[in-house]
Amino acid sequence: MSWIREKELSLIERLCANVLKAGPMPKHVAFIMDGNRRYAQKCHVERQEGHSQGFEKLAETLRWCLNLGICEVTVYAFSIENFKRSAEEVEGLMELARQKFSRLLEERDKLEKHGVCIRVLGDLTLLPLDIQKLIAQAVLETRNYSTCFLNVCFAYTSRHEISNAVREVAWGVEEGLLEPSDVSEPLLDRCLYTCKSPDPDLLIRTSGEIRLSDFLLWQTSHSCLVFQSVLWPEYSFWNLCEAVLQYQLNHSSIQKAREQHLQESRRLQQESDQAWVRGQLQGAARREDAQLRRRLLQQCCARREERTQSFLRALESKRGDFLWGLCTVPS
Ligand code: IPE
Ligand code: IPE
Ligand code: MG
Repeated sequence: MSWIREKELSLIERLCANVLKAGPMPKHVAFIMDGNRRYAQKCHVERQEGHSQGFEKLAETLRWCLNLGICEVTVYAFSIENFKRSAEEVEGLMELARQKFSRLLEERDKLEKHGVCIRVLGDLTLLPLDIQKLIAQAVLETRNYSTCFLNVCFAYTSRHEISNAVREVAWGVEEGLLEPSDVSEPLLDRCLYTCKSPDPDLLIRTSGEIRLSDFLLWQTSHSCLVFQSVLWPEYSFWNLCEAVLQYQLNHSSIQKAREQHLQESRRLQQESDQAWVRGQLQGAARREDAQLRRRLLQQCCARREERTQSFLRALESKRGDFLWGLCTVPS
């Protein structure tokens, strides 16, 4: 079954979409697609069939999102913890991934036509090599498309992502690209797998479980969280509208919290820069010279920015080399 659904919404769905779109709409929505096995049990079908229908629902949900003007979607498809499930289930999920990523590559024309950029977020090295290669190909082929974005979290947990970001920063310091004092919240943010995306505005978890299961812990501190009892394969356009409505009802408080956080983060950076300047001026005769302080402050910011940019370029090229390397590994 195809990833790209071109079917239009029904008249009533279009009507409802237009009413919703009169209010503030989330630009980026994240889904914890949960409840596939309970759905299989409920419908007396094989567990693998539940996972398969879960994928079909993803393709359908992506179409609804696009129709609502939501151009970025991040989904939790497989967590690192899910490797602890039975070998049979893990192999079934890997086989599904194999089929779906292969299908994605067969649909490259449609991806280009609709400008779909696919990103896979997670520790790819934990996956079978053939899947790593399919992922690398899909990510590299679609990397310059920019109409809509699908981020698939696969072999992902948030703690693993954050630890990895810390390791990348430590590598930057070791390589002499960064100073230890450059380490900050915004820098770590730019080392996460999600560095190319804005934070999700809305996070939806299905199946009635009220927890995040190690998903986007860093990125959702100011997102609207909506927990819905429906099992993922049964998710409907109306469930999505209900979640968007929840977002709209909470929109102004979310915006306020985000702005406050941004201000606080700027204040912290300024404080740290001023402390650096004070350090430089220690014992200097013209300690009170305001002009000198200003110049040093500017110098401090400019140098930090230069180091940060060159570190981020090195990181991006390291990550790109890893993907290109996978494409050249013989099958
Ligand atoms: C989510 O559904 C899909 C994956 C984790 C791969 P589950 O497999 O967790 O199904 P439930 O939650 O046990 O019903
Ligand atoms: C989270 O669901 C992972 C995915 C949806 C892929 P789980 O079903 O694995 O989470 P827990 O184990 O119930 O917390
Ligand atoms: Mg589950």
